[in-house]
Amino acid sequence: MTKLIAGPMATLSHQGLRKIYEDFGGCDEYYTEMINASSYLTHGQFEGFYTLNEIAGDKIVWQLTGKEASPMAKAARELCELGGIGIDLNMGCSAPEIVKTGAGIAWMIKPMEETKALISEVRNAIDSFNSDLTAEGKHKKQRLSVKLRLGDEDFTDEGFFKFCDMLYENGVEQLVLHPRTRKEKLSRPPRYQYVEDLAKHFENKIPVILNGNVKDLYTFENALKAAPSSAGVMLARISAQKPWIFRELSKSLDSSSASQISQTSASQFPKASVSGMWKKTAADDGKESIQIDRLKVGLEYIENLRLYQPKEFHETRMQRFFAYYCDNFSFGHYIKSKMLNCKTLDDAENTFKSYFDEMPGDRFISI
Ligand SMILES: Cc1cc2nc3c(=O)[nH]c(=O)nc-3n(C[C@H](O)[C@H](O)[C@H](O)COP(=O)(O)O)c2cc1C
Repeated sequence: MTKLIAGPMATLSHQGLRKIYEDFGGCDEYYTEMINASSYLTHGQFEGFYTLNEIAGDKIVWQLTGKEASPMAKAARELCELGGIGIDLNMGCSAPEIVKTGAGIAWMIKPMEETKALISEVRNAIDSFNSDLTAEGKHKKQRLSVKLRLGDEDFTDEGFFKFCDMLYENGVEQLVLHPRTRKEKLSRPPRYQYVEDLAKHFENKIPVILNGNVKDLYTFENALKAAPSSAGVMLARISAQKPWIFRELSKSLDSSSASQISQTSASQFPKASVSGMWKKTAADDGKESIQIDRLKVGLEYIENLRLYQPKEFHETRMQRFFAYYCDNFSFGHYIKSKMLNCKTLDDAENTFKSYFDEMPGDRFISI
């Protein structure tokens, strides 16, 4: 079974986008955008927006970031109470402002004992939650996972595998490997061979998920060819550009005898779009096909920001989404720069609608 997972993206992996993924049929796990443990514990006015879970709450993985073990363990314990699949620790973020504070990939670079202490403390917090559940006769145990890169520029294979062994020995139950070093840009090809080697190293003891540069069926199949032992694929940027990507991949692979794909198989897809973003059409070969209304998808995202995000976040979250989403269109640069100049959601809505008055042929596609 190959899992399909929506990757964590700051400003994008929130309930509004998750609602759109779900309308198209969804995927197996939804990582949230990174939640800063210390800020979360302050219970400030915006923190609750990071943890909305009315939609697909049982498939959420809460991703934590932080520079110190204790607040991360405390926040992990609190997030467990919300349900979902479990807690992920961000050890992959290489944004200088995050690394500088000792968070993200800094956990792969500091002395291993320090990172081991973090894992143990978070593991204990999750275990305490899980044992309370057992005492109450409930069974939805929370999982501990880590999303990581290869390490700093001078990483060695030996050091990398030793680090992953340490994670496993201290109770990490799933690894997502984005196989680039700290400084390697997203434009550089990821080194899938490390995903394969790591998955083989653990011999199915824990799932190892591949992440990086998967953006269509072709790159998906190539990634799986390069890392056939991986337990799944995480998609990040492309899921903002094409929130229907999980359906597209599941559908194609469902009919292929070679791959058993995802619990969200085509046969379980919703029969109709709740929001009117897509409708079923008959494909030439008799297989299921859907027609997607790309105007409605954009409007739905804007509406979901109104519903699920505080006003203070509207502008940045609208702009980040459309920076990816506009790449779908014939005059992508033109509409992108207009959307990035919009200051309010009403403005964004009108601007986006007017693009389709000019370019009606861009509105519908079939998959
Ligand atoms: C806008 C943006 C925000 C991101 N935020 C996070 C984050 O909060 N946590 C994290 O672990 N990775 C984050 N990432 C990295 C992605 O999860 C992923 O590892 C990376 O984009 C490569 O996957 P892709 O080629 O499928 O996009 C972010 C990436 C982007 C583009």
